[in-house]
Amino acid sequence: MVSTLSNNGQQLLSKMATSDGHGEKSPYFDGWKAYENNPYHASDNPEGVIQMGLAENQLCYDLVQEWLLKNPKASICTPEGVYDFRDVAIFQDYHGLPEFRNAVANFMGRVRGNKVTFDPDRIVMSGGATGAHETIAFCLADPGDAFLVPTPYYPGFDRDLRWRTGVQFVPVACDSSNDFKITRQALEAAYEKALEDNIRIKGLLITNPSNPLGTFLDRDTLRSLVSFINEKNIHLICDEIYAATVFAGQPDFISISEIIEEDINVECNKSLIHVVYSLSKDLGFPGFRVGIIYSYNDAVVSCARKMSSFGLVSSQTQHLMASMLSDDEFVDKFISESAGRLATRYELITCGLGQVGIRCLKSNAGLFLWMDLHQLLEEQTVEAEMSLWRVIINEVKLNVSPGSSFHCPNPGWFRVCFANMDVQTMDVALSRIRDFMDKSKKRTRPKKKLCWQASFRVSVSSRRIDDIMMSPRMSPHSPLAQSPLVRART
Ligand SMILES: Cc1ncc(COP(=O)(O)O)c(C=O)c1O
Repeated sequence: MVSTLSNNGQQLLSKMATSDGHGEKSPYFDGWKAYENNPYHASDNPEGVIQMGLAENQLCYDLVQEWLLKNPKASICTPEGVYDFRDVAIFQDYHGLPEFRNAVANFMGRVRGNKVTFDPDRIVMSGGATGAHETIAFCLADPGDAFLVPTPYYPGFDRDLRWRTGVQFVPVACDSSNDFKITRQALEAAYEKALEDNIRIKGLLITNPSNPLGTFLDRDTLRSLVSFINEKNIHLICDEIYAATVFAGQPDFISISEIIEEDINVECNKSLIHVVYSLSKDLGFPGFRVGIIYSYNDAVVSCARKMSSFGLVSSQTQHLMASMLSDDEFVDKFISESAGRLATRYELITCGLGQVGIRCLKSNAGLFLWMDLHQLLEEQTVEAEMSLWRVIINEVKLNVSPGSSFHCPNPGWFRVCFANMDVQTMDVALSRIRDFMDKSKKRTRPKKKLCWQASFRVSVSSRRIDDIMMSPRMSPHSPLAQSPLVRART
């Protein structure tokens, strides 16, 4: 533990620096640490922990590599592209390269089936969706103000929107009784409660498609959200970073942009609508830190653009992405191939789980599924969920993320990522789950206390996240370089 106190006990650092705003003391991060201490490797460490807590899209890198080989001029580090080096290296305008903004706008439209177009002049850059969320929070709310957030939600939001802005969240209770649908009633209840508590609500934050549910919102729900925020005169922030991970579903994914631009039944003050996007999930490039704020509010576009100086996308990345994303043939092939591969993965894992009696929420998007193990809990409490989770980490050796870390109101749900590994590793994971279920059936036959009710501990070393990030295993050249702590905020 690094001390932040001086010899006479005085606090040396700011309140913000010494607060727990990052949220690293959560099982979500503990699971990553457990994996980090003992990472699975087919030959070097076959008994290690398999990482299923990382929402990464690693299924289509072959397509990207093929494109890079065919387009050497897109990179300033090749003999063909080096002549652009100087211009790219000195570029530092916070508006971004015009060709980058055009290409991103084009990509965002194609990902949404060309049902809506995006104006390149409204595209603002940020350091991933992480940076985009913080910038939006800074633009829309003052310290102490709050956003409504339907549960369950991505744990990183607690850090991204709240830590440095002083903004709060008011959860909107959505639960398993109706497959976690966001109802008008739940929204009203959360809003009224906030008023009673003297909390000023500035907006509603949604993720569509949802992390962790892997589902997307239907037209009626989107319409009802739009009418709710218009009535209350609050903002709507739509995180659509999983838009191109939709692999099934009829009707198709509907973006909030389509609702407010094309739906004649919807009346909306567009200046209340803001879309957060990134290339981290749809393309699988979380390392490039390409985040986008697309706001329909001119003042927000202007302010966010000035703030983007704190987290610009490097001009080298902009240059490469401008070429790649303006290649329509590549983009269309990537989107359809990626959806196909995700669908195959989803089938494989849900079938495997179904065979041993494990039910998952029916989903059609995302890089994960939402697994229901509530029937394995001794009692329906968060404590029992945590006990089961410790067994899954320590005995089954799988890092899945417990629902409580997503603020899920019903205990026993777990998020399982399936697109960050090869199919052989997925098979190993499934066979471990099969063994575990067989054993647990034997154990539960004469109804007695389940073994995971004993006090297991996650065998996580006391190294802090910063130490882990500095570990030599984190070298990008290491075959074990799989650090979610460094590479992902998933
Ligand atoms: C819903 C959601 N929003 C934002 C992020 C952060 O994305 P980025 O890597 O672009 O910062 C994640 C990462 O998992 C996410 O799931």
